[in-house]
Amino acid sequence: MGDASFAIRPARDEDRLPLAVLFAAVAEERDSIGAEPPVDVDARAAAWILDETLVADTGGEIVGWLHVAKTPFGFGEIGMLVAREWRRRGVGSALLIVAIEWARERGLHKLTLSVFAHNTAAIALYRKFHFVEEGRRVKHFRRANGELWDALEMGLLL
Ligand SMILES: CC(C)(COP(=O)(O)OP(=O)(O)OC[C@H]1O[C@@H](n2cnc3c(N)ncnc32)[C@H](O)[C@@H]1OP(=O)(O)O)[C@@H](O)C(=O)NCCC(=O)NCCS
Repeated sequence: MGDASFAIRPARDEDRLPLAVLFAAVAEERDSIGAEPPVDVDARAAAWILDETLVADTGGEIVGWLHVAKTPFGFGEIGMLVAREWRRRGVGSALLIVAIEWARERGLHKLTLSVFAHNTAAIALYRKFHFVEEGRRVKHFRRANGELWDALEMGLLL
């Protein structure tokens, strides 16, 4: 699915490097995901769990991805990101729509995630899909600059 400019599909082996490169680019922003530079792109690419990953593909470029880590306890943990120049164009929403259906098909009863408490874009996206706030981890993430950031736990019952 998707619009005229991108499609959502399961990740394939040839996506490994672009997935990791995009991850490293967003890590460089230092404000929205846990990872900070330096990212070992080759190690990330090699270790990527493809069968838990959806990608947004423009027909040559991966501009977003969503990962659902299936736990043995019936819930799946989400990680996702969209390339900076592609944000606010529906890529994140399209990834989540497919991921929610995918999770149901895989028998999960719940999706969960952690998001930095200041990440208003991501929180708004998750709320739009009816994720609810389940708790706040205070001064949970120590950043490279020494700051301690709060995270919200959010969940969606399927
Ligand atoms: C969060 C993120 C994935 C959203 O992806 P996106 O493709 O921009 O999302 P969409 O275009 O589908 O937006 C869907 C909704 O999210 C909300 N939203 C997205 N960006 C927003 C922003 N900057 N400010 C406020 N709300 C925002 C809006 O409700 C939006 O709906 P609308 O456009 O109808 O108003 C993207 O901003 C991103 O990759 N950020 C950096 C990495 C990150 O934060 N990952 C999540 C870590 S938990």
